[in-house]
Amino acid sequence: MKKRLSKLKSPADCRYPLKQITKAVVPAAGLGTRFLPATKAQPKEMLPIYDKPAIQYVIEEAVAAGIRDILVVTGRGKQAIENHFDRSIELEENLKSQGKRIALQTVREISDMVNLHYVRQKEARGLGHAVLCAKSFVGNEPFAVFLGDDIIDHPRPAIMQLMKIWEKYQAPVLAVEEIPRARTKAYGIIKPEVISNRLYKVLDLIEKPSSSQAPSRLGIVGRYLLTPDIFGFLEKTRPGTSGEIQLTDALRRLNRCHPVYAWQFEGRRHDIGNKLEFVKATLAYALKDKSAREPLLNYLRDITSS
Ligand code: G1P
Repeated sequence: MKKRLSKLKSPADCRYPLKQITKAVVPAAGLGTRFLPATKAQPKEMLPIYDKPAIQYVIEEAVAAGIRDILVVTGRGKQAIENHFDRSIELEENLKSQGKRIALQTVREISDMVNLHYVRQKEARGLGHAVLCAKSFVGNEPFAVFLGDDIIDHPRPAIMQLMKIWEKYQAPVLAVEEIPRARTKAYGIIKPEVISNRLYKVLDLIEKPSSSQAPSRLGIVGRYLLTPDIFGFLEKTRPGTSGEIQLTDALRRLNRCHPVYAWQFEGRRHDIGNKLEFVKATLAYALKDKSAREPLLNYLRDITSS
């Protein structure tokens, strides 16, 4: 193992020549149980954050970073995602006949945005298994993974920040954020070695440790740049925390052979898998809309003053 690590020290030795990352995987097969009953008959990825379904924010981040092909890993009952990014001729005709040009343009832009591909994860066997479903789509290229529960707001998309690190090290990069010690049980946590401001070499990583076992407070959030080596490790990974195949466990094994880096991204993350954060994200995006800002602030003052 050690021998391989030293062989890969220089980016020039990399097996994936320097090029832009153009493929991404968005796992979206989860049942959304934390959002019941809202998600009983609709995918949680389609819940709107102000005026767009949550998954659209993530797809837009990928597009802004130059990603051209996205594989959405879906499951039963997720057709609304495909419909949303597909053309809707009937709706377009209707908007056209009513002269609603802006709405028509918005609707068309959604379907023209990017090449979307879909694969079904037949059983809910965890994030690692969902990523493994992307093996043939990814082929022999580095790729990005976006978790739809994490919406990150920053002028420089979080995934582009990770790409900068990839360009230098040609190795997997994970987005991390400092989280409260009491919350380590909800995250993959890294054991970091500081390289420079915001950049760490990952010495180890562990999925959802208790606060006493956590090697740091740096939690992995939903942006990863991975190399296809991960698939071999995922294939060998047994169910871990919650009886699921964990991406963190496969990364842990990969990290023993190849270096993995972590970037503490700039930007505000909304964990929309959590009801309170979901509401906060909706408010944050509504407040960005100039026409909604003042009336919304007045309304908030009104309902909080009584
Ligand atoms: C997943 C990952 C975990 C990561 C988290 C980020 O957990 O397994 O390592 O820290 O996403 O949101 P989940 O939130 O699906 O339980």
